[in-house]
Amino acid sequence: MTHRRKRGRVRMADLADVHALYEKSVQSPDHDVPFLASYFRRYTGRPLRRLREDFCGTAVFAACFVKRHPDNRAVGIDLDEATLAWGRAQNVSRLTAGQRRRLTLVHGNVLDPRPANAELIVAMNFSYMVFRTRRLLLRYFRRARASLRPGGLLALDIWGGSESQVPQEEAREIENPDDDGIGDFIFIWDQDVFDPVTYFCTTRIHFRFRDGSRIRNAFVYEWRLWTIAEVMELMKEAGFRDVHCLWDYADSDDEPEVWRRADKGDTDPAWIAYLVGVNPPAPSRRRGR
Ligand SMILES: C[S@@+](CC[C@H](N)C(=O)[O-])C[C@H]1O[C@@H](n2cnc3c(N)ncnc32)[C@H](O)[C@@H]1O
Repeated sequence: MTHRRKRGRVRMADLADVHALYEKSVQSPDHDVPFLASYFRRYTGRPLRRLREDFCGTAVFAACFVKRHPDNRAVGIDLDEATLAWGRAQNVSRLTAGQRRRLTLVHGNVLDPRPANAELIVAMNFSYMVFRTRRLLLRYFRRARASLRPGGLLALDIWGGSESQVPQEEAREIENPDDDGIGDFIFIWDQDVFDPVTYFCTTRIHFRFRDGSRIRNAFVYEWRLWTIAEVMELMKEAGFRDVHCLWDYADSDDEPEVWRRADKGDTDPAWIAYLVGVNPPAPSRRRGR
């Protein structure tokens, strides 16, 4: 991270808070939470009331969920206590007392066993790709399934396409109306390393500001770029049923997304999709046995 000052002048990079920049750049809870809650309702026929946000980071998704209904409860799990602390200070503190009571943040590993009370588990922004072997990803999916109520769903996002395998930096301007002394800034997604043998990749997030100052390597991810087919196979192996893909059929990036269940995708050079699996209800016991 670059936090240098030149002759006492405070640069925008010095004022910036990387978690706030991250949320503004890659998270859209006001879009994602209603989308997944309404998908859950359409799929299961009942409203979503118990959410678990795995790899929750600052828990912005879980915080948004408890605001939407007085019966909504959420648990967020993350390994990084500093990130959770930021989420408590910036996101949880803005909730009402009642909303706060319905949100639990857990400092822990998603691979550890947890109570089986979630109706929907989400793992957003590709976080599960931190598990780079079949063994670990399968263990995660088994743990997630064991934490779902019968009929509950696991929903993940996934990205790929030919451009995801090319070392490159993609810059995007982020509108920032907040009165934080920074204003609009540039988010840079840096696909630094991609290994075609292992599919291991290193991706980095950098930020650039209007005064020319920068924050390099605000976040660095060592991931495996899993394919849709591999992830769906592992979800099935973990016991999920009706594992399916939602593909965005919007004609262009400027149009609102049109998610539809798909058995085939398009040869888009850069795509994002959702994968969903169902924890099957326990088999009913046969009479007389
Ligand atoms: C890419 S961030 C995702 C943050 C947020 N969920 C989002 O949608 O942007 C990945 C997060 O996963 C957390 N993480 C990585 N491995 C984990 C594990 N085994 N258990 C729980 N959290 C983990 C990291 O601490 C980090 O906050």
